[in-house]
Amino acid sequence: MRIYQCADYSSMSRKAASIIAAQIQLKPDCVLGLATGSTPVGAYEQLVRWYQDGELSFAEVKTANLDEYYGLAPEHDQSYRYFMQKNLFDHVDIKAENTHVPNGLAGDPEKEGAGYDHMIRALGGIDLQLLGLGHNGHIGFNEPADCYPVGTHLVDLAASTIEANKRFFASEADVPRQALTMGIGTIMNARSILLVVNGAAKADIVRAAFQGPVVPQVPASVLQLHPNVVLVGDRGALSKL
Ligand code: GLP
Repeated sequence: MRIYQCADYSSMSRKAASIIAAQIQLKPDCVLGLATGSTPVGAYEQLVRWYQDGELSFAEVKTANLDEYYGLAPEHDQSYRYFMQKNLFDHVDIKAENTHVPNGLAGDPEKEGAGYDHMIRALGGIDLQLLGLGHNGHIGFNEPADCYPVGTHLVDLAASTIEANKRFFASEADVPRQALTMGIGTIMNARSILLVVNGAAKADIVRAAFQGPVVPQVPASVLQLHPNVVLVGDRGALSKL
C-alpha cells in the first residue's frame, strides 16, 4: 500500500484528483468506481477545474458509484445520484449513459444488486475505485458485521451512520434506514483502490483499518489484502499510523 500524507484538505484533494486524472489519461475509456460523502468533494472540484481548463476529458469514461440510499429517488437532493450530478457529472463531458448509481427505488433490491454487479462485469470491471471511510470503518455502506458481504446488496444502516449522516437531512427521522451498496467482493475486485480520508476524528479508525487485524467488524481492514491500494490523507487522519 502506498500512503500519501498531505498537509491539509486541499492538498489531499489535489493529490487524489491527480491520481484519478492519471488513470483517465492512461486509459481514456477507464471504469471509475466513485464515492460520495464530504471527503471526495474537493477532489471532484479539482477534476472539474482541470476539465474546464481543457486538461482532462471524461468523454469516454464510465463510472459506477458505490452506493445509494434505499427509498430515495434520483431527484432527491440527498440521493447519491443527485450528489454526483451536482459535484461532478453536470460539470464535465461525461455521457449520461456511462454513469451508474444503484437505483434507490428498485422494487427488488436483490435483483438490482445482482444486475449492478453484472453491469460492472460487462463494463470490464473497475479500473480505479475511489473510497471514503466511515467513522465506524465502513466502505461504501458495508457496515461492521460478522462476515463480508460479497456482491451489491441491501443493507441496514448502523445507528452510528444514521447519526453521522443526519447533518445532511432536515432531521434524523428523514435519514433512510437502508441503502444499496457494492459488496466487499465488488470493491475488492477493482484493479486499484484510492481511499481518501481527512480529519483527526478519523485517526483511530484509520489505524484500526490499516494496522489492526483484518476483520469484518472493521470493514475497511479488508483493504490490507488488496494488492494495489493508495491511501491519501491529511495530517490529522494519518496522525496515528
Ligand atoms: C457515507 C458513504 C461513504 C462515505 C462515508 C464517509 O455514509 N456511504 O461512502 O465514505 O459515509 O463520509 P464522509 O466523507 O462525509 O465522512
